[in-house]
Amino acid sequence: MHHFDTSREFVEGFSLGGEDLILTNEYIYKPHFGGMGLKCRTIYQEKYGLGEPTDVMVDAILEEAHKADYRRVIAIGGGTVLDIAKVLAVSGTERVDELYEQAPDRLGKKHELILIPTTCGTGSEVTNIAIMARTRLGTKLGLVGPAMYADHAVLIPELLEGLPFGVFATSSIDALVHAVESSLSPKATPYTKLFGYKAIEMIIRGYQKIAAEGREARIPLLGDFLLASNYAGLAFGTAGCAAVHALSYPLSGKYHVAHGESNYAMFTGVLKNYMEIKCDGEIAAMNGYLAGLLGCDTAVVYDKLEELLNQMLPKKPLHEYGVTQEDLPEFAHSVVTGQGRLMANNFVPLDEARVLKIYKELF
Ligand SMILES: NC(=O)c1ccc[n+]([C@@H]2O[C@H](COP(=O)([O-])OP(=O)(O)OC[C@H]3O[C@@H](n4cnc5c(N)ncnc54)[C@H](O)[C@@H]3O)[C@@H](O)[C@H]2O)c1
Ligand SMILES: [Fe+2]
Repeated sequence: MHHFDTSREFVEGFSLGGEDLILTNEYIYKPHFGGMGLKCRTIYQEKYGLGEPTDVMVDAILEEAHKADYRRVIAIGGGTVLDIAKVLAVSGTERVDELYEQAPDRLGKKHELILIPTTCGTGSEVTNIAIMARTRLGTKLGLVGPAMYADHAVLIPELLEGLPFGVFATSSIDALVHAVESSLSPKATPYTKLFGYKAIEMIIRGYQKIAAEGREARIPLLGDFLLASNYAGLAFGTAGCAAVHALSYPLSGKYHVAHGESNYAMFTGVLKNYMEIKCDGEIAAMNGYLAGLLGCDTAVVYDKLEELLNQMLPKKPLHEYGVTQEDLPEFAHSVVTGQGRLMANNFVPLDEARVLKIYKELF
């Protein structure tokens, strides 16, 4: 893990040069790196499609990247850019479908990978997973493999200064969900919980300051949020995410809702259902911790949490995203059959009927 105060210090520290390929967005790259006269080849992700990664977008970027040789892949961007760079790092000539067949163990690292997040959400710089929409399957699926870990994760808080408030909100809520889901996961360890609970504290305290003082109050806190997102990444990288993420994928896959926003749509709905099944153990510890931060009784902790989060990003019922009643059983079936990797980490097992019940409650 590396930390630099300025982009220039990073460029000098890592001796960026002609053998490097940078994957980024033009509007992030230009103001911070544009004036440095770097010799690296640069690919702007937004030229290959808008929004979060799809297999079609990633294949087009792979084709462009393979036009010339390169040694290192350097990603400067949000989870979208970071996840695509992970695919570049493990692709010699292969395309997305073939890589999914090779995962996890036959994926090999072909290029050194340096990941620099410019949002405060995914923690992708410290995880071994890339997530993209599989257009033929109509949902999002993770491509996982040890070869997709970054060789270097680099935090440069000044890169987040231009982050619009909406992306700040969706990405930091994603980080909060990573921290909560990983801490409730049966795979949680004392170490993942150390990072997870600390991330929760940093994010909630930051939101309280923003709620009290206004949106601009986030600017001096961006370094804290970037670190909290990284802590949450370390936590879920080991302990995993779970049902909130699993239930969000059909929504974001079919209706193109931003990842953090679709997580938020599911967040407290899933937690309330855990509580209906089992209200002691780690979830009691979690609720007590959240209640302490929010200054409320545990009986109303999810309502108070939503009150705070709604000031960052209003929660919407599913039908407002275009979801129909007929979608719900299809979504539930796709979660139970296609998202087993995540559903294995649920605080308590959730079957298809329960998943459908949650969707109906959130409709
Ligand atoms: N690999 C993982 O471990 C992991 C974990 C969680 C989520 N994800 C994935 O990450 C993606 C979401 O990533 P995200 O929330 O970071 O959003 P994003 O990367 O999709 O970015 C959202 C928007 O903000 C812009 N942006 C990013 N940084 C900016 C900056 N500093 N200034 C101005 N604009 C900026 C982007 O160009 C984009 O238009 C989803 O596809 C999600 O599935 C991956
Ligand atoms: Fe996430």
